[in-house]
Amino acid sequence: MNSNQHRIIGIMGAMPEEVEEIIPMIQNLQKFEIGNRIFYSGTINHISVVVAFAKWGKVAASITASVMILHFKVNEIIFTGVAGGIADHLNIGDIVIGKNIYQHDMDARPLLQQFEIPLTGKLFFECDAEKINLYHNFISNSIINKISFDKEIIDYLESIKQPYPKLYIGDIASGDQFIHDYSVKKTLKEKIPTLLCVEMEGAAVAQVCHEYKIPFSLIRIISDNANNDSIIDFQKFVENIASKYSCMLIQALFL
Ligand code: ADE
Repeated sequence: MNSNQHRIIGIMGAMPEEVEEIIPMIQNLQKFEIGNRIFYSGTINHISVVVAFAKWGKVAASITASVMILHFKVNEIIFTGVAGGIADHLNIGDIVIGKNIYQHDMDARPLLQQFEIPLTGKLFFECDAEKINLYHNFISNSIINKISFDKEIIDYLESIKQPYPKLYIGDIASGDQFIHDYSVKKTLKEKIPTLLCVEMEGAAVAQVCHEYKIPFSLIRIISDNANNDSIIDFQKFVENIASKYSCMLIQALFL
């Protein structure tokens, strides 16, 4: 983005519940339907934003990101949503800011290395380093340190015997697969030892942002442990607190 360009941030959410909670925070709200998706534009604290439910999976999220860039001219994208924890030290409720983002189901072997994205020479896409630091500071200052977590979030996490949430920066992998099997999790862990969590969209949006040369940030909240309990844990998390988390994150980043 050059200095004359007006900053417009695209905010994408992985669940409709998460996006609905952000809409009331937008001033000068306008609603558009393009490509079977709803986009909300306006400002949050005088910053221009376009907000949309990404839809699930890599292709769906890429379409949403492309419309944001080509139609709405966003020059930065932030993706927020839930993820399945892979690293042993992660607990439900922890927040992960993405660093290197893999497509764990990309496999053009023997032509290319496993995970290599064709025609890019890349094994993963990097999130914008400056934004990682900036958003890490915003989130740790306002959520982890100063303002205590939304009480309903803490009560819920206590009820499922999870500790007070922590904030991490690390690697995330995306694939068109809901991981809910310990053996699949174990294989992923062995293949990408730095992996913190998995989800289904981030790396696709990272690729779109890479092609259009705009900064991308990925912020995920652990809803389940990508194991045999995942289906129940994920559904309970989405029903109870996912939307509260997204609201809290947007407040931390913009207000
Ligand atoms: N998003 C949240 N939990 C997930 C999981 N276990 N697998 C893939 N995407 C997820």
